[in-house]
Amino acid sequence: MHGQWSSRLAFILAVAGSAVGLGNIWKFPYIAGQNGGGAFVLVYLACVFLVGLPIMMSEVLLGRRGRRNPMSTMRILGEEEAGQPQWQLVGLGGLIASFLILSYYSVIGGWTLHYILLSAQDSFANADAALVNELFDGLVGSVGKLALWHSVFMGLTAGVVARGVEQGLESAVRFMVPALVLIMLALLGYAINSGDFERGLHFLFDPDFSKLTPTAILIAMGQAFFSLSVGMGAVMAYGAYLPQDESIIKTSIAVVSTDTAIALLAGLVIFPIVFANGLDPAEGPGLVFHTLPLALGQMPGGALVGTAFFILLAFAGLTSAISLLEPVVAWLVERRGMRRGAAGLLAGTGVWLLGWLTIVSFNVAADVKLLRGTFFDNIDFLTSNIMLPLGGFFVTVFAGWVMCANSSADELDPSAGIVYRTWRLLARYVVPVAVTLVFLNAIGLFD
Ligand code: PFF
Repeated sequence: MHGQWSSRLAFILAVAGSAVGLGNIWKFPYIAGQNGGGAFVLVYLACVFLVGLPIMMSEVLLGRRGRRNPMSTMRILGEEEAGQPQWQLVGLGGLIASFLILSYYSVIGGWTLHYILLSAQDSFANADAALVNELFDGLVGSVGKLALWHSVFMGLTAGVVARGVEQGLESAVRFMVPALVLIMLALLGYAINSGDFERGLHFLFDPDFSKLTPTAILIAMGQAFFSLSVGMGAVMAYGAYLPQDESIIKTSIAVVSTDTAIALLAGLVIFPIVFANGLDPAEGPGLVFHTLPLALGQMPGGALVGTAFFILLAFAGLTSAISLLEPVVAWLVERRGMRRGAAGLLAGTGVWLLGWLTIVSFNVAADVKLLRGTFFDNIDFLTSNIMLPLGGFFVTVFAGWVMCANSSADELDPSAGIVYRTWRLLARYVVPVAVTLVFLNAIGLFD
């Protein structure tokens, strides 16, 4: 049966550890860059607070009420509230999404491991654009290197999950998030002094709505889900461990604010460097790995700062990866009766194999373009922009419409105050309508 977190702080740390990851520092800047900046960022922020936050609260409340892995939780609550066990399909969708996401997440996590080594060897000293390009291409062009680092990253993830989540995670996150913010503030200092800060600021926060395509809106919404780790049950799985007397509302707000602040901070660091060095903000997944080494190579003590930064980034990625694997392993343990170690090994191996699709997307199969692009592009698009929004949609519809108000108020706020009523309004109307409109808009229904 499930254990419990030692305290509210521990729970916040675990959910923050899931939310803060490569999504904030690697993905947010590059997709903001690809989608024109300002207007995209504005839509992203609206999605985070109006859609992502109520979904996070819904996930935690369902998780705590069900106290099992997400799939069993949805089945049991579906039965309890409406006699509809088929709600477990929402949990199943989440398990599949987490499997798919982790397969590429681990490959990118591997990039951060490689960059720890590069920084430690002072490879960025006085680097120019050509050198950072060469270093990045040297990594992603090599199937062997990608496979090696993907294996290490996946091994670490599965190792922690196999030992049980409570042990390693709390202490890792408690130290990691503040340390990561500190180093990013140091990098921000560099960006303000030596980057083109004004242009970066302008790019990020000055909205140009002519750049906002229907697909960009969908991607902004998908990124809100991805960055907050909602829509696939990761937060629900952690909610299962939350003690009854802790406030879901407060903890959710704390996590969402921290996550968003870190993404914006990453943008503020990266774009001034992009513009000061004449790089392309829309270059794609390599953006962070091109910009930061340039800055680190010019900074005093850059090798040290860089090593620390990439270690922390790898840690941030690891805590997120753990939260992606945990629901699958919890399900294998609770429903299939496997031992945790065996479940971790099995799920880890499955994800590792699937990761090969992403590995080859950056080299030998870079020219294999289907629907949205490479295998990696397709897995990313399918999960972030379709599966997570759909999962979030059903989770909030369940919490807002199917679950009776007494049950949800019981978990969120028994006095049914203003915050509870706002949540219910968002969960019942704003989230389902927003997700539906963004989908319809993206498939061109309003053209
Ligand atoms: N939120 C993580 C990040 O921003 O890196 C990624 C993630 C973790 C997505 C867990 C989804 C998830 F369930």
